[in-house]
Amino acid sequence: MGAITPAATLHLMLLTELVIRMGTQEDAQEITGLVNRAYAGVGGGWTNERGLVEGPRTSFETVADLMRRGTFLVGQERGARPLLASVYVERRDAHALYLGMLSVKPAMQARGLGRTMVQACEKFARNQGVFRLALTVLCGRDTLHGWYERRGFRSTGKRVPLVHGKGLELLTYEKELGVA
Ligand SMILES: CC(C)(COP(=O)(O)OP(=O)(O)OC[C@H]1O[C@@H](n2cnc3c(N)ncnc32)[C@H](O)[C@@H]1OP(=O)(O)O)[C@@H](O)C(=O)NCCC(=O)NCCS
Repeated sequence: MGAITPAATLHLMLLTELVIRMGTQEDAQEITGLVNRAYAGVGGGWTNERGLVEGPRTSFETVADLMRRGTFLVGQERGARPLLASVYVERRDAHALYLGMLSVKPAMQARGLGRTMVQACEKFARNQGVFRLALTVLCGRDTLHGWYERRGFRSTGKRVPLVHGKGLELLTYEKELGVA
């Protein structure tokens, strides 16, 4: 994907340069750890699934399998590890790019990384000639719903059950991308 634009880096304090690239199978283990820690809020962060969903969000096998179907975009400081952010994107139909497992390292949250990863998904979609993003958010995570709405996502009103979620539901959101 290349480096993000200077304007987008302004709010990324403490980072010299964020590079967003497509993850490879070699990244699968690290992505798994990043996603599980972010969703469980291990090490801080301002929003997570703790108290709503028990157990790890994903596994190495799932991430490796998803990489064969779609793409993980990963963000890291140029030339440095660990990975700071990741997001899964998959073209599930002709008109929309599905976005899932958006994760920012808890200690690095609230610095603009999540927003920047969403922008990278938009660029990825446009490059494929797709002008709609779709995702689901757990019902009850109101601050997160607001966060996606401020990114331009709108609820479709459609709810789907969370698999193994003991009655929990996910609300579907979409964002139409203008032709840049
Ligand atoms: C959701 C997530 C990806 C956001 O990433 P991030 O890097 O923290 O987000 P950003 O820095 O781009 O944005 C921070 C926003 O949170 C807001 N925020 C910060 N602390 C907050 C708090 N305590 N309560 C509410 N909002 C808060 C900021 O005002 C900012 O909002 P704005 O950009 O609209 O002004 C990240 O928190 C995360 O990985 N969470 C765990 C995994 C998860 O829940 N993923 C999404 C599943 S659908």
